[in-house]
Amino acid sequence: MTHALDRKAAVGGLVTSLEEISLKVHDKSSGRIARAIRRARELGPLKLLDLARRHGIKGSLQFALGNVRHIAADRFARRWDCRHGVNTSGSIQLSSLTIDSPNKAFGNECLCISPNTFDFVVESLPGDLSSYTFIDFGAGKSRTLLLASRFNFAKIAGVEFAKELVEYSKHNLRHFKAEWQRCHNLEILEADATEYIVPATPLVLFFYNPFKREVFVQVLNNILTSLDNTKRDCFIVYCSSSHNAIDWARSLILDSGRFEEIPTQPMPMFLDTVRAVRFGVFRAV
Ligand SMILES: C[S@@+](CC[C@H](N)C(=O)[O-])C[C@H]1O[C@@H](n2cnc3c(N)ncnc32)[C@H](O)[C@@H]1O
Repeated sequence: MTHALDRKAAVGGLVTSLEEISLKVHDKSSGRIARAIRRARELGPLKLLDLARRHGIKGSLQFALGNVRHIAADRFARRWDCRHGVNTSGSIQLSSLTIDSPNKAFGNECLCISPNTFDFVVESLPGDLSSYTFIDFGAGKSRTLLLASRFNFAKIAGVEFAKELVEYSKHNLRHFKAEWQRCHNLEILEADATEYIVPATPLVLFFYNPFKREVFVQVLNNILTSLDNTKRDCFIVYCSSSHNAIDWARSLILDSGRFEEIPTQPMPMFLDTVRAVRFGVFRAV
């Protein structure tokens, strides 16, 4: 196992321009309206009516509303990016990315968390975070790292295994501007989450639906080993949106016997997100 902090892949120069990368990656969020119109044209009015009849009024309305929410959330994400001089939005498919890991098949697409969702989750953490290192497992284009920099963490790091997303992240960490930023010690590491050894400091370990259970089990074991070696404050924050990953993640974390769950408020339905995120916050005991 390598210590990811030692890797040469930590923040360096841009290898490829972002324009080249953006031509290569498959972003499902762009062109959603055009795709819907094209599909409607292909089907024609009769088939469309037939589909609507089969799914019923409720099903059809839910489908339409889901698409509107996707488009709205994407617009919010892109506006946030513009305001802060970065590119963190999109719905990037892992199949179009360069990933040198046996765990590629277990990874979830890159989709950033919304600012309202993230701020709501952080409310469950201690008020003073100045001794904690924040780690995002599956950091994507580093939206979460940038959002975390609003709080006074000692250090913020992200682990991401897709080469192109790491390039976006390096660009984003360099160009990000926000008057509210409090932590400026940010780092992105190109590594598989299972190879990453957490630092021996107080920790906030963040997961936003990054990978399947098989990978999470290994990551959790590494965390437990590190806590065995150095006992310290540690929080795991687990968020899941489209999958019900929080259910199996909660069981695995609590069954370890090493964490207790902190009571949290149910997540409201924020306008800048497609659906309300389900989450749990766990404190090492
Ligand atoms: C849902 S996205 C999270 C995005 C990020 N937290 C943000 O807020 O923008 C999941 C990310 O996890 C990454 N990922 C999946 N499996 C991984 C693994 N084994 N090691 C490192 N990164 C992984 C994917 O490439 C993807 O970027």
